[in-house]
Amino acid sequence: MEQTKNIMQYDTVSLDDENNAIVIIDQTKLPGRIERIQLRTAQEIWEAIYRLQVRGAPAIGVTAAFGIYLLAKAVDTQQYEEFYQEFARQKEYLDSSRPTAVNLSWALKRMERVVLQAKERPVEEIKRRLKEEAVEIWQEDIRVCKAIGEYGLTLLKPGDGILTHCNAGKLAAVQYGTATAPIYLGQERGYGFRVFADETRPLLQGARLTSFELLASGVDVTLICDNMSGAVMRNGWVNAVLVGCDRVAANGDTANKIGTSVVAAVAKQYGVPVYIAAPTATIDLHTPTGDEIVIEQRKAEEVTEMWYQTSMAPQGVKVYNPAFDVTDHRLIAGIVTEYGIAREPYTESLREIFQRKEKEEQRKEEHQS
Ligand code: MRU
Repeated sequence: MEQTKNIMQYDTVSLDDENNAIVIIDQTKLPGRIERIQLRTAQEIWEAIYRLQVRGAPAIGVTAAFGIYLLAKAVDTQQYEEFYQEFARQKEYLDSSRPTAVNLSWALKRMERVVLQAKERPVEEIKRRLKEEAVEIWQEDIRVCKAIGEYGLTLLKPGDGILTHCNAGKLAAVQYGTATAPIYLGQERGYGFRVFADETRPLLQGARLTSFELLASGVDVTLICDNMSGAVMRNGWVNAVLVGCDRVAANGDTANKIGTSVVAAVAKQYGVPVYIAAPTATIDLHTPTGDEIVIEQRKAEEVTEMWYQTSMAPQGVKVYNPAFDVTDHRLIAGIVTEYGIAREPYTESLREIFQRKEKEEQRKEEHQS
């Protein structure tokens, strides 16, 4: 158990290459205990993602990238075909750990591209390149979140009240988080935001994680139950809703933690704008609308037993426990990416964001060569 440092001083996820391990903060133990654990085997990595020991779309992507690198590193062959077959098998396994956050398959596909592009190279070199790519995905997350923070901050004024749902914070990413990035940058610059964190039933990511990390950072945060967002908005305390996402479809429909769509509907009622913080890694132009997003279903016990001393539901009651819901794009005032803010009509603006990204990447490549 480590309790001496502030939660903000620990990496959510990091690579310990020497010991062939991924090191994560076990988020199921927060806020009571800051416990770091090592993941080595494919099953340990799969379970850590499935059990939400590491969670949040960007952090899942980074974990998958480190994971597939370590699993590839352990493949004992010099034959490309044999190496690739084993790589593809492990990639598919990790990809099955959670279905909704597209960052998981995004990171794994990016790693696979490295293997496919280096077909003619010795296996040892491919392994080296895989490590470089995984570390780049990790570092990129910091830059991306910071850029989202800068764009997000342009939507806010000093003293604003901000409501957030679930945890799209540092604990869901590498640093800054996505929805919390404007809050942290604002904090550094004296904006004096007042944040309302929904507790986020049933797994309480808002209570256990968001309020924990914001409090540790000195942000003015108030914890509310999920059914209180209407009350705080009616009181006039909220100027903007700022949340993360697990997958944004091409038309702007957005899957995020269950309850987000309710917050968005309430916000519409009170004229409060809803902004989605979305790295381009979470935008999936291949999914046309929210109807095609696969929503993870989780165990009934998360609703009936978890956190309670005794069961809080009658034995045998039917339970519906989807982990995410889809917020209709018409309820979203803006999607804040690292390349700018997309607005309605999203089908066009999101495409433009990707064009900007492509241009920027080309420019960087030209600059390097
Ligand atoms: O089930 P979780 O805790 O992984 O859900 C996380 C969320 O819904 C976050 O809002 C989303 O992944 C964005 S994280 C920057």
